Amino acid sequence: PEMHAFLHELPKCEHHVHLEGTLGPELLFPLAKRNNIELPKDFPTTVEELQYKYDNFKDLQDFLDLYYVGMGVLITEEDFYELAWAYFTKAHADGLHHAETFFDPQGHLERGISMETVVNGFKKACDQAEKELGITTKLIMCLLRHLPAKDGLDTIQLAKPYYQKGWIHGLGLDSSEKPFPPELFEECYAHMAEHHPEVLLTAHAGEEGGPEFIHKSLDLLNVTRIDHGVNSIKDPLLIKKLAEQQTMLSLCPMSNLKLRVVEDIGDLPIREWIAAGVPFSINSDDPAYFGGYILDNYLAVQDKFGFDIPTWKLIAQNGVNGSFVAKARKDELL
Ligand code: HPA
Ligand code: ZN
Repeated sequence: PEMHAFLHELPKCEHHVHLEGTLGPELLFPLAKRNNIELPKDFPTTVEELQYKYDNFKDLQDFLDLYYVGMGVLITEEDFYELAWAYFTKAHADGLHHAETFFDPQGHLERGISMETVVNGFKKACDQAEKELGITTKLIMCLLRHLPAKDGLDTIQLAKPYYQKGWIHGLGLDSSEKPFPPELFEECYAHMAEHHPEVLLTAHAGEEGGPEFIHKSLDLLNVTRIDHGVNSIKDPLLIKKLAEQQTMLSLCPMSNLKLRVVEDIGDLPIREWIAAGVPFSINSDDPAYFGGYILDNYLAVQDKFGFDIPTWKLIAQNGVNGSFVAKARKDELL
């Protein structure tokens, strides 16, 4: 209980949470009803059935199949706002101070929802979180790697006005990893580096893909952060490079367990990263699907690793340092 209070109070920053992954049954079913969405015949119809699915993912793809159908209930600006606002209030109750949140516009554009609807809804929730909860926020647009790079470039074009206004602060890459390696998206990242050099570049890598996916994300996409990065531990030279460049990994412990990236949270290479000086943060990924928000993920790590207070302070400090905010805000967060 003492450690619970300590971890609650620790200045936590989240760098890896998909807003669509915060959509749980309590909002999914009402939205389906409100928007007259007929869910597929094989989609669970009760909270219990949905929970059973959540508890039994075989791998990343098995989760993604449910995730893309689930987000199909999001139609209006208000839906996107409500989703993000519910996340911010939960995260705030967990003691979160700063949130860098992913969203997947292509999952909505292909259903006929406009970029404007998605971004306006999320932005409204971000503004409210800043004003009423004191959380700083950043939106990071992710490209779906199972779609062609051409689609990614078109999506970047649609998002231009929002990058220009400073409503979107980053570019990421997610979805099915192994069949779609980083090099497929070189042009998308090069475009961002050339036209929007102020934007944070990140990519999911080394969740199911091997260390070469991390190398290629760094070398070909020029990302400054790696999302997941668990498989970095298989390559000592990569570990050295991550430490030298102080590239932060956004670790998602409960996600890794649920998607069977590891058999046990205790198997995550956290001690090795700390020993090597590789910075990482702790994150919830898709909290509605994986059974826990930000504090639950901290507690799950503490349960397996039993870190002392200085170690936790170091982890929190690395999370603040790796955040995409000005120095003044970092000083405030620490
Ligand atoms: N990996 C890849 N794609 C995703 C994830 C993830 O953990 N969550 C949502 N989209
Ligand atoms: Zn993710």
